[in-house]
Amino acid sequence: MKMYQTQLSSGIWKCPTMLTRPRTVLSHNYKVDHEKRELGMLFMISIHICTPFIYNLKLLMVMLVCGFGSSIVAYNTKVPRNLNMEKLRNGYLFPEIWRREEGHREKYPDAKVITLGIGDTTEPIPQIITSSMVQQAWALSTHEGYRGYGDERGDKALRKAIADKLYGHAGVKDGEVFVSDGAQCDISRLQLLMGSNVTMAVQDPSFPAYIDSGVIIGQTGEFHEETRKYKNIEYLKCGPENDFFPDLSTTPRTDIIFFCSPNNPTGYAASREQLQQLVEFARENGSIIVYDSAYAAYISDDSPRTIFEIPGAKQVAIEVSSFSKFAGFTGVRLGWTVVPEELQYGNGFPVIKDYNRIVCTCFNGASNIVQAGGLACLSEEGYMALCSVMESYRENAKILIDTFSSVGLKVYGGKNAPYVWVHFPGSSSWDVFAEILEKTHIVTVPGTGFGPGGEGYIRVSAFGRREHILEASRRVRTHFK
Ligand SMILES: Cc1ncc(COP(=O)(O)O)c(C=O)c1O
Repeated sequence: MKMYQTQLSSGIWKCPTMLTRPRTVLSHNYKVDHEKRELGMLFMISIHICTPFIYNLKLLMVMLVCGFGSSIVAYNTKVPRNLNMEKLRNGYLFPEIWRREEGHREKYPDAKVITLGIGDTTEPIPQIITSSMVQQAWALSTHEGYRGYGDERGDKALRKAIADKLYGHAGVKDGEVFVSDGAQCDISRLQLLMGSNVTMAVQDPSFPAYIDSGVIIGQTGEFHEETRKYKNIEYLKCGPENDFFPDLSTTPRTDIIFFCSPNNPTGYAASREQLQQLVEFARENGSIIVYDSAYAAYISDDSPRTIFEIPGAKQVAIEVSSFSKFAGFTGVRLGWTVVPEELQYGNGFPVIKDYNRIVCTCFNGASNIVQAGGLACLSEEGYMALCSVMESYRENAKILIDTFSSVGLKVYGGKNAPYVWVHFPGSSSWDVFAEILEKTHIVTVPGTGFGPGGEGYIRVSAFGRREHILEASRRVRTHFK
């Protein structure tokens, strides 16, 4: 066992029976490097013995050996870079925020930084859910409980629980549910399904993955610095001036319309009338809506929880959703996509058949341990436990709304989603982000990270421990008073 661990810790996967064999698994380059290094070491030892008093020479030799033994010489392959990757602007938003947060922590090592930026959950997962995952994991160590590959679409029991409990009122069948490792992965798989020849529209502002995955797959033209938009994407402005819903009378037709409700970052949930208009618009134009309901569980008024509550939606919509935000599964990873049987391409071929093919080819199914957790989330007791966690995030959102309103700022969202969208008219959102970080040590997200329509706004996440939210509230009130 000890030998085995030693081998693993040296970064080489080997079974104990292989340990006595020569280094056959080493790559040629590695062997050459290693032999060079050994030669270098021998040379060093001789120098050490022969010239004990010539320290400068020894130092020179150490430098030579290091350079000789390790191959840090730049080397380019002949593979061209994917031109679509070259089109992407900056890094993905959230790693960029994290980079700035790290820089701030280095600058102020004693500051108590509060992170209300990246929308990551903070409360522990209720034990009723984690214990079901533990049991499933233990079962894998028994002959009776062991299971290998499962149905690529997800376990039947979980698909049925999702269909019955979350979509029972909207007529979705378990055969239309594809369980996945998260909504973000599904968004990319849907882009792969659609390919590079489709046109797309997004809400502006919106969750960045829709645009970035479209760029990567080749649906877009170049990025325009001035407008901060990609060519070939329709940006549907959604702000307080239009009740966070695009003016469809002036919206050009696209093949795909990404629509997120409740929206990240604005926190706004579309009303039934608005979604009826959207479905009608898609039907008139023969478009497909990709509807993201990752925050549906946070809806507290009578806004629809799924696009499939709207009559006629099953012929024009796909829905992606996630356990991340309602069950704290951001790290556990579980989501799903609903592709209705009625949804067809222009040539009459069912979209669900192609999506099934994509899932079989590019995914192979979610972890069976995690799926056991998902099933527990949808049990009566599990969902009750999650509701009290969500209630605590809702109260956080209320505290944040009161805080920013009390200093005279206009605040949106926070009622149907755990995000508060704060307006700083006339200011650059990156400047506001930087000022808040510098003066209060609070990390937020600049609105322009979600599209040009986010200029002048910041998004503040209500995912946080209560004591941090209260402390953030105190700091904001002091800074902006
Ligand atoms: C609107 C929206 N969709 C999808 C995701 C990604 O969810 P998942 O963790 O399931 O990949 C997020 C994550 O922040 C989101 O805000």
